[in-house]
Amino acid sequence: SITQPPQVAWASGQFTNGPLIRKSTRLQNLTHVFMDEKAWLACDPQQIVYDVEMVDSAPIAGALYTGVTHLQPGKVGDEYFMTRGHFHAQREQGEVYYGLRGSGLLLLQDEKGTARLEPVFPGSVHIIPGFTAHRLINTGNDILSALAVWPCAAGHDYAALTQGFNLRVVEEVGRVQLKEYHHD
Ligand code: 6PG
Ligand code: NI
Repeated sequence: SITQPPQVAWASGQFTNGPLIRKSTRLQNLTHVFMDEKAWLACDPQQIVYDVEMVDSAPIAGALYTGVTHLQPGKVGDEYFMTRGHFHAQREQGEVYYGLRGSGLLLLQDEKGTARLEPVFPGSVHIIPGFTAHRLINTGNDILSALAVWPCAAGHDYAALTQGFNLRVVEEVGRVQLKEYHHD
């Protein structure tokens, strides 16, 4: 028999033909994520920063999830909108990201705290190794959409990064600037 698979529009990252799950993350959900606490408090808490739409599948051993993150353009103070970012709960599990639309950066940070960035653009392919925290940053004026594939068993560990990422991306005099950042 022939079953219709989910379909993704490469240009927009929009899925059709699910089983789909959607989750919106708003500014109010991103406590202590951005550097400028005052600027964060002054923002509309209801504003959506990113939406994740993923194909639902049973989280059995060996299974994979696929989903698209749509990250809005914007800033909190000088800092560009970004995802919370995480290590996988099962640290050794990797992931692949594919840039679909917009432009931004993928921030990768290892367990020693060494951070690096890869530019994200339509067609970019990002191999995220195990033991590496990852976060998307939208440095453009349009929605940044990226497709991801990861093991269902990977899980998320957000707490391990309560001190945050050591590298921050801000706009200064209209230009993208990188900043070392160490939480006190
Ligand atoms: C994952 C993926 C990806 C990620 C979203 C939202 O492991 O599930 O990396 O789907 O969850 O981009 O980012 P946060 O999970 O960091 O909020
Ligand atoms: Ni992940």
